[in-house]
Amino acid sequence: MRNEIRLPCHTTTSPGGAGSNGATMDRRGFLGLVGIAGAALLTGCTPGAGSAGRGNTGGLAWSTRLHVPSVDAGTVAADGTRRFRLRAQAGRSQFISGKSTTSWGFNGPYLGPTLRAQSGERVAMEVHNELAESTTVHWHGMRLPAAMDGTPHQPVEAGSVWRPTWTIDQPASTLWYHPHPHGDTAVHVYRGLAGMWIIDDGIPDGLPGTYGSDDIPLIIQDRNIGADGSLREDDTVPIWGLMGNDILVNGTHGPYLEVHTRLVRFRVLNASNARMYNLRLSDGRPITIVGNDCALLPAPVQVDEISLSPAERAEIVVAFNPGETVVLTSRSGDNGLDEGEFDILQLRAATTLRTNGPVPSSLPGPAPIAPPADARTRRFVLSGNSKINGREMEMGRIDEVVPVGATEIWEIDNTVYSHNFHVHDAAFSILDIDGHDPPAYASGWKDTVFVGGHKTAKVAVTFGHHADPTTPYMYHCHILQHEDKGMMGQFTLVESTTQTSPPSGMPRTAGRHEHAASDS
Ligand code: C2O
Ligand code: CU
Ligand code: CU
Repeated sequence: MRNEIRLPCHTTTSPGGAGSNGATMDRRGFLGLVGIAGAALLTGCTPGAGSAGRGNTGGLAWSTRLHVPSVDAGTVAADGTRRFRLRAQAGRSQFISGKSTTSWGFNGPYLGPTLRAQSGERVAMEVHNELAESTTVHWHGMRLPAAMDGTPHQPVEAGSVWRPTWTIDQPASTLWYHPHPHGDTAVHVYRGLAGMWIIDDGIPDGLPGTYGSDDIPLIIQDRNIGADGSLREDDTVPIWGLMGNDILVNGTHGPYLEVHTRLVRFRVLNASNARMYNLRLSDGRPITIVGNDCALLPAPVQVDEISLSPAERAEIVVAFNPGETVVLTSRSGDNGLDEGEFDILQLRAATTLRTNGPVPSSLPGPAPIAPPADARTRRFVLSGNSKINGREMEMGRIDEVVPVGATEIWEIDNTVYSHNFHVHDAAFSILDIDGHDPPAYASGWKDTVFVGGHKTAKVAVTFGHHADPTTPYMYHCHILQHEDKGMMGQFTLVESTTQTSPPSGMPRTAGRHEHAASDS
């Protein structure tokens, strides 16, 4: 049941029940059946009305072993600098056995290696663009100078090389990298340009930590795979863009993983363009959360479900019994973006499991970020699918100027359907969502927060230490179609608090102070 497609919005229930085989349809059959008229019908769908998919539960063969991206720890030069080389390139992938198709990747046909380095190290990246068009590579979650951030301001033209370098200065965490060319991020990521970045800090965490054995990356992406095995690029939901009904994990469709230890740590990254997942194990067993986007937690948190919107990460630990099989699934939710039930990964425990663990009762993650009493508040109003504070992103406009190292309160006020909000070169703690405490699974340091329809999220955000008054960082919705359409703003970090207005030469924005401070 690989080629399933969402049914028209009004058919949200069926005799077969959500996600059962009886309730799903083969895409080829579906398109053959309804053709153009059906496509037009789908265009009229609205969020929350069944537009985003019915899922794929119960139909996967689990016949392909989960691919685990290789670790690339670079090479250490005589001066101690850790050097990495990434080549963005086109290649051939087989998402469906026997069907070879064009895809993009770093150093391979799809996705990229898991980069790994230590906090405190100097890293030097060599990014070769071997594609036929310009792209960028952004180090999502990294604290680094704006000129190294890989935003639309650091294009890597076709055939050229970009060489950013910085010193890693942040706690152990699971970050990622992906293109950020303005207007083209969605399609570049969709074709396969993304990878994981693991930062170590040398502080023992007592958690499973043998990469590929009891420490497994899970890069979850939804795709629409055509009958010929190709990645179909048409937007499927007008307001959200590409929503797929074929789930890939590390580029593997219908994957299984054999586990050989009692506890397994998974570094879960939602690298989808728009889809949100409500992850749980098929038998409802507990999931122990040990880390969020930017750091480990100070103590593990046990839940039975974890929601991840695009770009969010979670480090989780799951316990297994010998010989059992359990499936990682995604429950359908009511946020529009998370509609449809999906089976994601089948986990097969070996008949004997090596004992590891237990998960320590306290972890080395940092305490929540507490805003100072006089913290400045900035407000960001999200509207439609392209605007923050009433404006679309403009390359030449700096929207906010922030003192280096500041801790501020950022309030994200969503006036419409689901969005999320990501801030570069920063980490934040969620203070509240609509006045309620953040969910337990999102209590650690983060760089992306989900903001459901008509909700307000308040975060205490702390910024990096690299001043550059002319090169901006970005904040944006990480639904990639929204980001591409302009639901993004630019901020600079500056040395002194007296200098916090846009530099001359950069158009001054009328609205910059309207939404600052005091209106919280
Ligand atoms: Cu991932 Cu700008 O982000
Ligand atoms: Cu980012
Ligand atoms: Cu959005």
